[in-house]
Amino acid sequence: MNAFEHTAWSHGPVDLSGRTVLVLGATGGVGEGVTRTLLEAGATVLATSRSAERLADLADRLPGFVPVVLDALDSELDAVVQRLRAQHGPLDGAIVSVASWGGQGRKPLLSLTDTEWAALTAANQTAVFRAYRALVPVLKRDGLLLQLNGMSADIPFPGSAGVALTAAATKSMTRTLAAELALSGPRVYEVVLGVIRTRARQLAGIDDPGWIPAEAVGVHIAELLAGTSPLTSAVLQYFVNVDAGPQPTSPTS
Ligand SMILES: NC(=O)c1ccc[n+]([C@@H]2O[C@H](COP(=O)([O-])OP(=O)(O)OC[C@H]3O[C@@H](n4cnc5c(N)ncnc54)[C@H](OP(=O)(O)O)[C@@H]3O)[C@@H](O)[C@H]2O)c1
Repeated sequence: MNAFEHTAWSHGPVDLSGRTVLVLGATGGVGEGVTRTLLEAGATVLATSRSAERLADLADRLPGFVPVVLDALDSELDAVVQRLRAQHGPLDGAIVSVASWGGQGRKPLLSLTDTEWAALTAANQTAVFRAYRALVPVLKRDGLLLQLNGMSADIPFPGSAGVALTAAATKSMTRTLAAELALSGPRVYEVVLGVIRTRARQLAGIDDPGWIPAEAVGVHIAELLAGTSPLTSAVLQYFVNVDAGPQPTSPTS
């Protein structure tokens, strides 16, 4: 049974053969599930990591993607993306699924050092900005740019201020970009997620059937790519309840 059949709210399998989608952060807990579903749907997936080793590890359990070593904070980012454009043509989609908890651990906001603050904002905010600036020019006009984000964009997250405030900032950035590109394309989406059942969590023995399988996030993205999702014209979306599926309004509103 594939991810579409597992997902109660799915509108049925979609065929993405002939479509090329880049997943920035494919080695992450969410990115891996998204990559799996997009491959199942027949897309050509350009799966990125900063590490060739992590991509090789991912390929051992998930063959079929095109590995791309890329760092959104590196000066070579634009050149790497332009090479992808030359090799694969304009992209049908780019999924931005990056995150960094930083090395500081959980600590109160006012305990962050200048160095920790700079690292957190670079990793979680500047990286997203630089990725958008590099990726938008290589997307088709009717293509899709989608950021996966967390509920910390909307609610307090004591002990993890750097993650929460950059989540809020990138949510704002994505919505502004969507407004700026509304007439020209590509389509821009901000999808705020609840807790995800990731492989890393399951390996650590942390799991809950009430959480959202990472592959179900891929089902929603595949439906947005195919245009079969009823949320195709909603920039801001929330996917926090596994049974209800993606919604156009926040559960906290
Ligand atoms: N996990 C959850 O339960 C959950 C819940 C709600 C929302 N989300 C959201 O989902 C998104 C992904 O989260 P996750 O849990 O999958 O994170 P994760 O497991 O920590 O993965 C983060 C990914 O980001 C990539 N990355 C980090 N810095 C990068 C950079 N400078 N350039 C390129 N790639 C970079 C990493 O690639 P390499 O390290 O391989 O280079 C990795 O693939 C985040 O926006 C998060 O807020 C997650």
